[in-house]
Parts: sequence; C-alpha cells; structure tokens
Amino acid sequence: MPNALLVGAQWGDEGKGKIVDFLSRDADVVVRYQGGSNAGHTIEIGAERYILHLIPSGILYPDKTCVIGNGLVIDPLALVKEIKELEQRGISAHGRLHVSDRAHAVFAHHKALDSAQEALSAASGASIGTTQRGIGPAYTDKTARQGLRMGDLLSPDFETRLEQHVAESNKALAALGAKPLDPRAVVAEIRPAVEFLRPFIADTVVLLNEACKRGRQILLEGAQGTMLDVDFGTYPYVTSSNPTSGGACVGTGLPPQAIGRVIGVIKAYTTRVGEGPFPTELFDATGERIRKTGREFGATTGRPRRCGWFDAVVGRYAALVNGIDSWAVTKLDVLDELDPLRVCVAYECDGRRYDTVPACAALLARCRPVYQDFPGWKTSTSAVTRFQDLPVAARSYVEALCDLTGVPLGILSVGPQRASTFRVGL
Ligand code: GDP
Ligand code: IMO
Ligand code: MG
Repeated sequence: MPNALLVGAQWGDEGKGKIVDFLSRDADVVVRYQGGSNAGHTIEIGAERYILHLIPSGILYPDKTCVIGNGLVIDPLALVKEIKELEQRGISAHGRLHVSDRAHAVFAHHKALDSAQEALSAASGASIGTTQRGIGPAYTDKTARQGLRMGDLLSPDFETRLEQHVAESNKALAALGAKPLDPRAVVAEIRPAVEFLRPFIADTVVLLNEACKRGRQILLEGAQGTMLDVDFGTYPYVTSSNPTSGGACVGTGLPPQAIGRVIGVIKAYTTRVGEGPFPTELFDATGERIRKTGREFGATTGRPRRCGWFDAVVGRYAALVNGIDSWAVTKLDVLDELDPLRVCVAYECDGRRYDTVPACAALLARCRPVYQDFPGWKTSTSAVTRFQDLPVAARSYVEALCDLTGVPLGILSVGPQRASTFRVGL
C-alpha cells in the first residue's frame, strides 16, 4: 500500500486525530509535518480520551514509530508535558518518538509576542484569534533566518543565544506595550526540558527516508486545515504554516514520490475557531444545536467553535489544492436530528456567482451561500458500521457531499470512538 497523507479540508478540527488513529493500525511510522501545539487532536478509546498537540496520533499504538518533522515549531515545555502525561497513562514515547533537529523551537518570548500582538490588534477589532501558542512569532523567526532549532538546544552556546534572543524580543514586547521577560528566567525554565528531550532529537530526514526505502508504511498527519493554510487559506485569518499536502514534503524531507495517496478529512458540516470569514456560519438555534451535539469546543483553547452548514465550495477547493483521492467524512451522527440539511453549492456576491473560494478574505466575508436542501433522517446513525446500513436519506446526503466536491468516499465516522469508524467502497 502506498504511503498515505492525511489533511484537514476545512478550518481544522475535522477529526484528523481520530482518523489518523484509525489508519495507524496499518502504518509503521506516523509523522507530523507542520504546525505546533496550536493543534488539538482528540482520540477516544473506551472511557479514555487523549488530546495530542505535538505528538503524532499514532503514539497510542505501542509498536508505532512517531516522528515530529522539521516543518513544526515545537514548544519544548509543551512537548515534555505531553510526553510525561502519556507516560503517566502507561504510554511510553521513549525510543520510538523522534524529534527533528531541524524543527524550530518555540520559547516564552514567542508566546508573549503572540499574546501581545493579539491584544493590540483586538483593540482595533483586527485580531486573528490565535491559540496564543507562539506559532506566528516562531515561524516569523524561522523565515527571518533568526530562529533557534531543536538541534541548537544541544549546542554548548545554546543558553547564551537564547538569552540574547529574549533580550532582543523584549524591545518588540515593549513596543507592543507588553511586559519584558527575564532572559535568565526563560533559560532556567527551559534547561530541564532540554535535558529531557536530548535523547529524542534526531536527524529525522534520514530516518524517514531510510524507513521509506525499507518499505515501511508511513502515515503523514496534517494539523489545522486547508482553509487555515498560509497560502491557500482565508489570509490573513490563517495559521503560519502549510497544512495542505504540499507542506508534507517540505515538513519532512520526504520527496513527493514517497506519497502515494491523499486522504482528506472533512466534517459533515463546518466549524471554525478564531476570526475570519465563514460563509455558511449559523447564528441561530441550529448553529447552537450543532455546537452542543457535536461538542464543538476547542481541544486546545476550549473556545466555542463557530458552526455552520457543509460548504461544498470549500470541499471542492480543498480537493483541488491537496489532490485528495478520497474523503474521510466525520461527525455524520451530529446531524441525526436536523431536518432539513443545507449544503452550500456556490457563493454569490455583487450579482456574481463563485464556484471556488476567492483569494480575498474581505470578498469572501461578503459572499452569500447558495444552498441546496436535503431531507434529514431523524434517527440515530451512531451504531452503524456499514454504509449500506445507513438510513437512505443519510446515504443520499453523504453521496451528495462527495458528488458536489468530486471526491469519492473512503471512510465514514459516526461517533467519537475508535470503533465508530469504517471504510467504505475503496
Ligand atoms: P482534529 O483537530 O481534526 O483532530 O479534531 P478535534 O479533535 O479537534 O475535534 C474533533 C472532535 O470531534 C473531537 O472531540 C472528536 O472526539 C470528535 N469526533 C471525531 N469524529 C467524530 C464523529 O464521527 N462523531 C462525533 N460525534 N464526534 C467525533
Ligand atoms: P487542529 O490541528 C482549528 C486557528 C486559530 C486561529 C488561527 C491562527 O486541531 O485542527 P495560530 O495559533 O495557529 O497562530 O492561530 O488558526 N487554529 C486552529 N483552528 N484547529 C486547529 O488545529 C488550529 N490551529 C490553529 O484558532 O484562528
Ligand atoms: Mg483540533
């Protein structure tokens, strides 16, 4: 079986963690390729619920190798916390979690800058609604060629360099009206984490390419989603990395030929957390109902997620920019009691029809959805394990999502549990 790449097709939180967990059974190596601890990937197994931020969702299988690729920005404190929390629950990452020496590190000053920038822009009503995990400032340092990488944590002059970085960023914090940080305190706080992480840091480019050559199955796990991509998303209301499939090669060092198939994860409706345009957003009782039934609260920040109808324009666009071979449609069960269901098939703005997502966020914010209505099925789907056992209206709805986006169905999910997921067709 060719190596699989899994991407979010909407604004994140599509259920990627759960689908990666489902697919991990057949994988040898599971790899994250971008983002950082802004991600929150939930996996439910029986009474246990895990939320992973930096560690690939394959970690719950004891025999899988997990890699945090070079494309991430890693908060060492958050990573240590995550490893230790898993250890406390009987899951050891030692010897099978490898962290790229080329990945950039996130420090206290990145998080402080993220919060200060958000606070300042909130005052003028222009905030992005970031997770305040320091993602934007860390990627800014990376592209400005002044970041510290995970490999640098192990060099003898690391502490001196970090102190200089913190002192420098204090100027930017002061300009934003935020409190300066004590460089020595930042270094002292990070020191035990550096020692803890030392054995995990490796040349993952070599590791991954060798695994690939040996024919080991690699599963690449995207974080965030297509509409949060810094190039293809609703810029500037995006994250600072490339969650789309193109990001997988630059974020791992695997060549394009190593990736054989792309699986898009897409909810049967739409959510978004943070600011920015969202054409199918619901502001009424139906939106509230979806939020409640779907437990749509951020896995990282706990913020209520904005909810709306399925947007086939977004789905088509995601299929286009990622080259999606099949969908993993999640959270169908959340729609069980709604009737009718609406699907956005196009946008309209100033008398013009749009069949694809326009580049300009301000234009997208003015777009009105053109809806097609579908009958609901008004019965529970959460115990279904085969596509043919779904109510006819549920089958028609899912088939319509696939037809309207031009991508066949591969996996369907009707509940948060590992067991509520099944393959269809392919
Ligand atoms: P991710 O960031 O894409 O991994 O998604 P999140 O974990 O942030 O959010 C998805 C949420 O939906 C989690 O709470 C999952 O447990 C839950 N979930 C995943 N698939 C399903 C499903 O098919 N039905 C229901 N009801 N919940 C699901
Ligand atoms: P997963 O992997 C949903 C959103 C934030 C904000 C924007 C920028 O769980 O799907 P950032 O902190 O990245 O600078 O914030 O991106 N965002 C997410 N929304 N799911 C995520 O990850 C997200 N990661 C970032 O809410 O709008
Ligand atoms: Mg999430």
